[in-house]
Amino acid sequence: MIRTDLYNELLDEIINTRTYLLDKPEESPENALRALWFLAGGDPRAVERCLEEDLPILSETSVNRLRNLLKKHIHGVPLAHLTGRQRFMDIEFLVGPEALIPRKETEILGYAALEKIRETVATGGFSNIIDLCTGSGNLALALAYHEPKCRIFGADLSVDAITLAQRNAVHLALQDRLKFSVGDLFAPFAHDQYFGQIDMVVCNPPYISSQKVTEMSAEVSNYEPRLAFDGGPFGLSILVRLIAEAPQYLKKGGWLGFEVGLGQGNFIKKRLERNNSYSDIQMFPDMAGNPRAVLARCI
Ligand SMILES: C[S@@+](CC[C@H](N)C(=O)[O-])C[C@H]1O[C@@H](n2cnc3c(N)ncnc32)[C@H](O)[C@@H]1O
Repeated sequence: MIRTDLYNELLDEIINTRTYLLDKPEESPENALRALWFLAGGDPRAVERCLEEDLPILSETSVNRLRNLLKKHIHGVPLAHLTGRQRFMDIEFLVGPEALIPRKETEILGYAALEKIRETVATGGFSNIIDLCTGSGNLALALAYHEPKCRIFGADLSVDAITLAQRNAVHLALQDRLKFSVGDLFAPFAHDQYFGQIDMVVCNPPYISSQKVTEMSAEVSNYEPRLAFDGGPFGLSILVRLIAEAPQYLKKGGWLGFEVGLGQGNFIKKRLERNNSYSDIQMFPDMAGNPRAVLARCI
């Protein structure tokens, strides 16, 4: 039996001191306590996996560890940085300060892209995919994990992010079908071997305006890299480049897929329509009906 007095005491402490971010819907006082409890017992898990089994019984040393972890969490350290784990598209990733903590909202893009890749594989065999702004490698690796017939080239401007993505590839034993590079957007792929050879380009770019980045909550701005959020004066700098540069790399009929910020969907749809390289523009909404992922076919 776990100590319910200790559980209730710590839960009250979290409820009274901690708020949770809207873009991490998997986190709550109960779920955070469960994740820290497993961690203190020497079993780091992503939040969702802590709901699947009974809590372990903790030694006195582990209880002290739990109290210390809780203190850090209450002072703002993201739960995923304490556990070092985050679930994305049903896979547990290694996470840390090197890159963005994968968010649930990015699964909208991930599952929409996966469906198109499966269609490509069904008709054309192996699929070549580029994941730009790869961060921890979550999108690239989730696509490779869920569709064995694809090869993925991931890239990011941040050396630290790529180091983490490579660790994730090894962690998931997917390194044979993934290659990660460091560089500015498409720069690592500016070679003949990639021009016109890619079935899908995916990207979750930074898309917050530089002004709004300065107003983000401390849990984000103190612990996650600014480079992961800052999309320039209007938040659109990388998205605009992505739309302009992707057709050079895509096969005819290949797909460009990317995430957009709240309120950016209509502008981006018009931008794609005005660029005569794309057709079949599809918008994928979140639960509230806001477009959060966009797919467009290259003609
Ligand atoms: C919103 S994060 C996305 C991370 C990951 N793909 C995900 O979905 O969680 C954006 C990423 O873009 C990278 N980045 C920012 N500017 C870039 C650029 N000019 N070229 C390549 N990557 C860039 C950041 O380092 C960061 O890892």
